[in-house]
Amino acid sequence: MDFNKISAAEAAALIQNGQTIGLSGFTPAGVPKCTPAEIAKKAAAEHAAGRPFKISVFTGASTGQSCDGELSNAEAIDFRAPYTTNPDFRKNVNRNSLNYSDLNLSNMATQIRQGYLGPVNWAIIEACDVERVGSKAHIYLTAAGGISPTVCRLATEGIIIELNAFHSPKSKGIHDVYEIEDHPHRTPIMINKASDRIGKPYVEVDASRIVGVVECNIPDEARAFKDPDPITSQIGQNVADFLLANMKQGLIPSSFLNLQSGVGSGANAVLGALGHCPEVPDFNIYTEVLQDAPVGLMKQGRVLSASACSLTVTNECLLDIYDNMDFFKDKLVLRPSEISNSPEVIARIGVCSLNTAIECDIYGHVNSTKICGTKMMNGIGGSADFTNNAYLSIFTCGSTTKGGAISSIVPFASHIDHTNHFIDAVITEYGVADLRHKSDMQKAEALIAVAHPDYQPMLRDYLKFAEKTGGHTHHCLSAAFAMHDTFLRKGDMRLTDWAEYVK
Ligand code: COA
Repeated sequence: MDFNKISAAEAAALIQNGQTIGLSGFTPAGVPKCTPAEIAKKAAAEHAAGRPFKISVFTGASTGQSCDGELSNAEAIDFRAPYTTNPDFRKNVNRNSLNYSDLNLSNMATQIRQGYLGPVNWAIIEACDVERVGSKAHIYLTAAGGISPTVCRLATEGIIIELNAFHSPKSKGIHDVYEIEDHPHRTPIMINKASDRIGKPYVEVDASRIVGVVECNIPDEARAFKDPDPITSQIGQNVADFLLANMKQGLIPSSFLNLQSGVGSGANAVLGALGHCPEVPDFNIYTEVLQDAPVGLMKQGRVLSASACSLTVTNECLLDIYDNMDFFKDKLVLRPSEISNSPEVIARIGVCSLNTAIECDIYGHVNSTKICGTKMMNGIGGSADFTNNAYLSIFTCGSTTKGGAISSIVPFASHIDHTNHFIDAVITEYGVADLRHKSDMQKAEALIAVAHPDYQPMLRDYLKFAEKTGGHTHHCLSAAFAMHDTFLRKGDMRLTDWAEYVK
């Protein structure tokens, strides 16, 4: 190999206390795995020796155990942005042992460029190949675009490559690497359909900036998805019925919209159910995260093309894509997150966004991030990038969680990520709350109708108490969080006694 080969421990030794690392990847897909784990070991050794060691970590989105998990457990993180799903990291965030900034994913690279987040010292990039071409190096990314082009360009100390043999060089060509210009010189992003390519298949850097290459062979830390269950399947059917009805009414184009689907098992199941509905036309996907279900639909010809930032798929599915690149190469394109989630492109090409809510209140405000208003779940991810710019913005959620002890439809969302101005419909297994062309009080009726039957009378009772205050939107402030408070005190929202709260 044409570059300086180093071990992961040697790479970690380069990273100094107080520095910032910018990582490739988006979700555990495409994230460097051995260097961050070695940095965690270095942090533990430094702490044991009585020396401080904390770094800042910038990523495209979440990472896996070897990065967010190990680094947070080793108390090696001072500041981290943006999205994360790792359970150990979540525990550390919720005990405030590190500074976590939740940002819209489309904005992460821009905020780094603007200098809002401070300098990036090192770019650590997972690659399936790196080639020297004259004075330049071409870095071929693996399963995600993320913020790689930006951190490679801006890293002040240099670039460390993790050359991971798990990712076949056969995947070369899957990426379309394009970086937006800085303000005020930005030009339009000329993507007019999901499969358009406007960049290069690699990240180009000065070869001299590659400080070392760490060779490894480590699978992606993808999670297996829960199988669809009767609830997620019914939600998927309700989404399909709603979209078909809209098409018949001429409210969405007969050629259909590009679909975006959020993260998690629920989103995977909904997209799968949509694909299996024969009346839904074949469609294109413009999304940030491609999960297993849509990849299967591509193979069946139901999904015609897909633009994403990452292949957040099981390893089995990932290797199948690499083995069938002849089929996928003109249908599947991976982009940096500022392009996959670009508000400009999303607004232009016409997207139907399908994201999962933690809870939604009776007026249609959605909480995507915080359990009972305080505990961080994962982060906002790209849900606002898509919701705020989509042609049709939909949130889905099961009507209850935790065995029915929590209602997803509540009087007042305990934290609000998405206001009702941006949300067209909320869909549960009990049906569709179409929020378009409705006043707040009409929205409340529609939303209570899709709540779980155990909670519908309780929510109607709340509205009766709230009516006394009047106003455009009725609320009884002393009782607005009674259901949450009851869950925290008694473990079940169904035990809510309004008399305790209504003043
Ligand atoms: N109160 C308490 N816990 C709740 C809850 C609520 N209102 N709603 C969900 N949960 C819990 C579930 O019980 C489950 O807990 P468990 O892991 O202990 O079983 C967990 O949250 C995940 O919920 P699940 O129903 O399995 O949903 P999911 O895997 O589909 O994920 C989100 C749902 C909201 C967490 C996930 O979609 C997310 O992080 N969204 C924000 C980012 C986003 O939308 N990105 C996409 C943009 S492209």
